[in-house]
Amino acid sequence: MLNIPVPHDRLAFFLAELGISDEELDFLAPYRDTFVSHGDEFGRYFYDYFYAIPRTRIIIDHDKPARRLAKTLSNWFESLFKERLNKEFLSFLWKSGIRHVDVNVDQRYVNLGYAATRQFCHRIIQSQVPSAARPQVTSTVDKMLDLCVLVATDAYVTATTRCDLEVIKGVAHQVRNPITVIGGNILRLQRKIESSGKDSQMLESIISQTRRLERMVTDIGVYNEIFREDPQFTVNSLQQILSSTIAQVKEAKGINNAVVELIFHPGFTLVKADTRDLQVMFRYLVENSFEAMDLNDPYLRVSSGGDSSERFVHVEIFNTGIPPDKDQLDNLYTPFYSSKPTGTGFGLPIARMIARKNLGTVTIEPVPGRGTKCMVVLPKAEPA
Ligand code: HEM
Repeated sequence: MLNIPVPHDRLAFFLAELGISDEELDFLAPYRDTFVSHGDEFGRYFYDYFYAIPRTRIIIDHDKPARRLAKTLSNWFESLFKERLNKEFLSFLWKSGIRHVDVNVDQRYVNLGYAATRQFCHRIIQSQVPSAARPQVTSTVDKMLDLCVLVATDAYVTATTRCDLEVIKGVAHQVRNPITVIGGNILRLQRKIESSGKDSQMLESIISQTRRLERMVTDIGVYNEIFREDPQFTVNSLQQILSSTIAQVKEAKGINNAVVELIFHPGFTLVKADTRDLQVMFRYLVENSFEAMDLNDPYLRVSSGGDSSERFVHVEIFNTGIPPDKDQLDNLYTPFYSSKPTGTGFGLPIARMIARKNLGTVTIEPVPGRGTKCMVVLPKAEPA
């Protein structure tokens, strides 16, 4: 089974958000035994329900000993009503979500299971709870099941995302070593070959493609790492981040003839976001702008602004050059799509993922005849 720590804080947050009060749980107390007495019946009902669906029947047939699921679900149902949704119960439930990924149960079927459980509980309430108490008991049981759905979904999303990221990380790691060996050997060969000959041109092209692969592996690593980490929201100065990012990119790319203008509107210079995420996002966006710039009129303008009633800061990054055409615009955020021969096609997907993670957006707009405008919108922060 996947070894992922239980996110206790998030589970406690779900519990608090659903507002299941102690009074409600006390009100349920006289009916708990009634529900518990239906445990075995629930196990059988659940088993038969999913044994009738071909896709889940196969999973059940794999599971040994036969009919184990009926016992598992009967136990789960009983503990739902015996225990007061404590930390142990929520952890157990969360781990069952991870187990479902292991045994290949799609979350949609788990959700269907919760819908069937809700109907089963409503039938018990209808037949065995006095009519005056029914609305309150129904509301509490519904909230408890809502909590279970949230916890199970959280586990499923965490586990499947983790699996995807592990695959991507593995591929990037496996590709990195051969590229380093190829790159090193090509450089050695290049030293032995005449610098003006046909072979030398061929080697140049291999080196350039090897570097592209190296950058791609690095970008995949960045994507993975940033996707995995939760953002730490702090107050950030756009002026500071963008000035140093632009200086770094200019130095790394050896750019010294471009005209760069920075215009920050006094009321729109602070954003609430993760500092490292911002640095990475702006680095990719600024690199893109410098690469797309018109070499005969190299100009970059970064400006901030917004509407005073708004809760967001708008950062515009404009560069001269040929704006993207329709086909390029449609594919800007598709990983590995690049209109540049040595591009990795990962810059904009990373930038957009970071913007979303930090509750913002990134859009690219052509400015016909002049250049391209990249607009970043981020939550505004007040001075600390
Ligand atoms: C209301 C929805 C569901 C709940 C509350 C639930 C609960 C659980 C729990 C508590 C476990 C035991 C986890 C462990 O001991 O590590 C489990 C395991 C399992 N579940 Fe589910 N489950 C649900 C839906 C489903 C569905 C729709 C299937 C489809 C076939 C399924 C198949 C399995 C299997 C094969 C196992 C592993 C073997 C076993 O312990 O019986 N579950 N589930």
